[in-house]
Amino acid sequence: MNPEKMPRHIAIIMDGNGRWAQQRSLPRVAGHKQGVESVREAVRSCREAGIAVLTLYAFSRENWNRPKWEVKALMQLLSQYLKSEIKELKKNGIALRIIGAMEQLPEKLQSQLRTAMEQTQENKGMILNVALSYSGRAEILMAARKMVESVLNKALSVEDISETTFEGYLYTHGLPDPDLLIRTSGEYRLSDFLIYQSAYSEIYVTQTLWPDFRKKHLLAAIQEFQKRERRFGLTGEQVRQKNPLSRQDLSYGSRVGA
Ligand code: FPP
Repeated sequence: MNPEKMPRHIAIIMDGNGRWAQQRSLPRVAGHKQGVESVREAVRSCREAGIAVLTLYAFSRENWNRPKWEVKALMQLLSQYLKSEIKELKKNGIALRIIGAMEQLPEKLQSQLRTAMEQTQENKGMILNVALSYSGRAEILMAARKMVESVLNKALSVEDISETTFEGYLYTHGLPDPDLLIRTSGEYRLSDFLIYQSAYSEIYVTQTLWPDFRKKHLLAAIQEFQKRERRFGLTGEQVRQKNPLSRQDLSYGSRVGA
């Protein structure tokens, strides 16, 4: 592993919980339960590897359309995770953040999440973003709406609209874009996850189902990432000459908060 080429931000689409359970003739919820173990290990491993930001896609806007019992079970698992893991997050200097339409979550879970966020907000070791009731398209619309409001309030002028100002209205404002986007269970889709922020992310798809995803799988993804040549629209030659216009320098290196 090359410490100079570590991704700053890893985003994961955790997929395959249902199939994992089905393969074992277990109810789908058993797959989600085992998936929480993988969440624990991914958080711990990313922290150990010095990753600055980890974003996990835990519940999409579309997931509300799943059977009621499954939605309820997922909310319960999240709540249990918070209860059992808050100490660990504090001990390891991890700041929890939620991205998505948090107001659509059950009230009790919202208040639990708010408490966990408040209690960890000063932590500088790693940011753990959990995407809940999340949709990338909805995020872009929300940001556009807020930006228009700023223009109408005269807090922003039309001439000052740029990618930088726009990014300030996204849930991920202030964070580096994902360098590495992992999807488990062999599906080649973004499924509306960080569609603005992943414009230049390296995508890594593994056949491993999320409940089986362990530290060794994460390290394999990072190793593959380190072999990729990130060109950001330049030619390979320009990148190898370390053209000053390359965004390469922006994608590795300094830790958030450091
Ligand atoms: C996708 O598998 C997984 C989900 C929709 C839920 C992910 C949630 C967890 C791992 C647990 C809670 C999360 C945290 C952060 C504690 P799927 O059900 O779509 O699998 P399938 O495609 O095989 O049916």
